[in-house]
Amino acid sequence: MLIDNKKYDYLFSNHRPQTIEGIYIFGKNDKYLINQNYASISDIENRIWSDLYIRLELLLDQYASKEYLLGIQSLPIPRDRFPDFNAISPIIKDSTGWTLLPVAGFLDEELFFEVNAQQKFPVTDIIRKSPRFDNKYRDRNIQNDEGYTPEPDIFHDIQAHTPFLMDHKFAEFLADVGKLGHEIILDKRKLGPELVAHNLKRLQNFAWWTYEFGLLKNNGDSDNIRKKSNDINYEIYGAGIISSYDETNNIIKCAKGESKRSKLLPFDIEEAVMTRYDYSDIQDRYYVIDSMDSLYETYYKNKDLFFYEG
Ligand SMILES: [Fe+2]
Repeated sequence: MLIDNKKYDYLFSNHRPQTIEGIYIFGKNDKYLINQNYASISDIENRIWSDLYIRLELLLDQYASKEYLLGIQSLPIPRDRFPDFNAISPIIKDSTGWTLLPVAGFLDEELFFEVNAQQKFPVTDIIRKSPRFDNKYRDRNIQNDEGYTPEPDIFHDIQAHTPFLMDHKFAEFLADVGKLGHEIILDKRKLGPELVAHNLKRLQNFAWWTYEFGLLKNNGDSDNIRKKSNDINYEIYGAGIISSYDETNNIIKCAKGESKRSKLLPFDIEEAVMTRYDYSDIQDRYYVIDSMDSLYETYYKNKDLFFYEG
């Protein structure tokens, strides 16, 4: 695992506590690959999945982006029980070439970007608030609420991320972000470990404010695939929002002017890459892109931002 180097952190704005402490982080040299034992999933686990899924279902139908809704409709992601990786992965592979990679937990950035570069999406097989989750952390104290856990779980990975892997442009973009991360780590430009760490944080910020917590302008053209029209100016495409009932509701309230908890800001790539975030709370801001195409275009045009030379 790369040693975190904070030398250039002063350049970032919005310094936040990074409360990822306590969770297991897997690196290249750890035994991070697993097999999903589908037959052994308990009733309790299936019920937790189902409760999370059903609570969000109608909200997402009304507010999630078109890419998400079309993706989830085309995958065998059940409402009432855990998804089976072996049923989902081949369908995604046929569509965009990506496969699911079952893993033991949170991967460090080096490994995460490397597997993404190979079009493999890491997915965990446990769920928040379950006996298996509690057992994994029986001798550690980490945040583990229904609304939020810093450990990515199967609900976040499958219900929120995988539908986007069915979209060709998104799938290509995500693989390119993985390749870029891998390129930063390889450091062929010989920038040195301090700048490698800094540039990786820039890429993590970019990922955070886009495919994890990003919003998209609602131009009304996806209402035909919704049961109820989207009545706010935004669509949700960030997977961190999609898998969280609290975060989704926060956006709806802020968009309707019923809350001032978070700011809704126009996406500016230079600002986003230089802005840190907090893992452990509702976000204080969300960046709004004009369209998915505008995001891809800005990303491909501004890759130099991720090779800051000091
Ligand atoms: Fe995620």
